[in-house]
Amino acid sequence: MELVLPSPEATRALGERLAGLLRAGDLVLLHGGLGAGKTTLTQGIGAGLDVRGHVASPTFIIARTHRPRGGGPGLVHVDAYRLGSFDELEALDLDTSLEESVTVVEWGEGLAEVLSEDRLEIAIARPYGGMADASAGLVDDGARHVTLTAHGPRWDGVDLSVLRGDA
Ligand SMILES: Nc1ncnc2c1ncn2[C@@H]1O[C@H](COP(=O)(O)OP(=O)(O)OP(=O)(O)O)[C@@H](O)[C@H]1O
Ligand SMILES: [Mg+2]
Repeated sequence: MELVLPSPEATRALGERLAGLLRAGDLVLLHGGLGAGKTTLTQGIGAGLDVRGHVASPTFIIARTHRPRGGGPGLVHVDAYRLGSFDELEALDLDTSLEESVTVVEWGEGLAEVLSEDRLEIAIARPYGGMADASAGLVDDGARHVTLTAHGPRWDGVDLSVLRGDA
């Protein structure tokens, strides 16, 4: 499924709607270049899950855990960009928190997929923007093109179109 998100607010709102579909044990992989909006989307997921703490880029640590305020799942926010190899990701021993939490991995391409057959992959692209486009005279109008792909039996029969909202 593809969506266009015109603003950071729209990206956060998508995260909040997505949180409504997520349950403990789920894995969400976010693909997209620097500044694509992966952390912004994760902030929306965190708000929707009603977890503690400020969701920010996990600087200096590879993963940050946000505990739930209520009875729902917590959030494990992983910055795979800081990982050098798959071995490092395994060494995090994510499996323990995977079961009780929603795990969101930024920049998971080709790395974290093997953690779970069941996963939701979200690619965020900036149609204009970034260095190359800027030098070509194109400006970042804030729009992001998002592609969602569900893998594995967990997502069989789950209607992702509810994520459209009014976007
Ligand atoms: N439609 C949009 N969706 C999300 N962010 C947007 C949008 N338009 C503009 N932005 C801006 O782009 C930036 C996205 O930053 P964010 O930290 O979420 O990206 P990121 O993909 O996590 O980057 P990094 O690779 O550094 O982790 C923010 O400053 C945000 O305000
Ligand atoms: Mg980020």
